[in-house]
Amino acid sequence: MKITRTIDSRLKLIDFSDLPFGRVFSDHMLVCNYRNGEWQVPEILPYGPIPMNPSSQVLHYGQSIFEGMKAFKNPNNEVLFFRREENFNRLNRSAVRMSIPDIPKDIFMDGIDKLLLLDSDWCKAEEGYSLYIRPFIFASSNCIKASSSEEFTFIIITSPTTTYYPDEVNLVIEEHYTRASKGGVGFAKAAGNYAATFYPTKLANSKGFQQVIWMDSKEHKYIEECGTMNIWFRIGDKLITPKLSDSILDGITRDSIITLARDIGIVVEEIKVLVHDLVEAYDAGQLKEVFGTGTAVAVSPITSITFREKKMILPTAEDSFALRLKEEMQGIQRGKFKDAYGWTTKIISRDMIS
Ligand code: COI
Repeated sequence: MKITRTIDSRLKLIDFSDLPFGRVFSDHMLVCNYRNGEWQVPEILPYGPIPMNPSSQVLHYGQSIFEGMKAFKNPNNEVLFFRREENFNRLNRSAVRMSIPDIPKDIFMDGIDKLLLLDSDWCKAEEGYSLYIRPFIFASSNCIKASSSEEFTFIIITSPTTTYYPDEVNLVIEEHYTRASKGGVGFAKAAGNYAATFYPTKLANSKGFQQVIWMDSKEHKYIEECGTMNIWFRIGDKLITPKLSDSILDGITRDSIITLARDIGIVVEEIKVLVHDLVEAYDAGQLKEVFGTGTAVAVSPITSITFREKKMILPTAEDSFALRLKEEMQGIQRGKFKDAYGWTTKIISRDMIS
């Protein structure tokens, strides 16, 4: 792999006490092109603009997928990745659905290792900080025919991060617009899934809500996700989350929370969640807490849910499942608690150039 280091790190210019999500990028990026039916040799170079033609296919048809994963520092100041194998597998599941060639495992893993060796100072050890890693692949043929691209570009950038939602998260149940349909691409991390949510989210924002709860596209009765997160309901002492389908993203945090919750004795059900059952549970005083999960947010408590005229204000549960599970997960991510699941890994390849 060719590696070109920056001659002037930007790290000293960054104010880590004011770090809005997704706006600051570390010094290096990895770029790898797919040409003539093969992934070429990847290259690491200083983060910066990439050459792109106006006819680049992604700009016209949105053939693009991404992943979101995080690295943390453990108490020995070593970089720990959290379940990155799962991100690799999911990227390639998204690739199949979006007619994008699989990315080889060594390009993905070795690329991340080398980036993190170069930019490990961007991953702060202090509580609350992590380095968000964004691998993505897009169609890069110079061609505006509406068919699958023949050339692709794989890039990894990284971004130091803290809290995603610093304040309240008030949700509204969206009954008109949907995020994903049956047989569609909702389960994949396809760029267009996110683009399609921006307009309904903007409408919700103008009414004072931070995010939207997405319902199924057929009957508009079942809850699927919220914002960019998987959603969880504590009803009585049971934890309920929508059962996966082709319109729900198979969250790695979702999967981790299911495992952690079951191991501390919480009953977890993955079922189809009817919005009316939720309202009924709220009216009966049984809806104890709601939270969202995702790589970027980790575990994010929800303040309220509005359904039509009804605003369901959620109490801060004294023995909050959300906070307990967040603490468990983050303890493992930061190497503070024993990782009984083998979820964390360290940098494997150290064969850096000098
Ligand atoms: C993530 O949690 O990694 C996401 O996909 C959210 C992202 C769109 C900011």
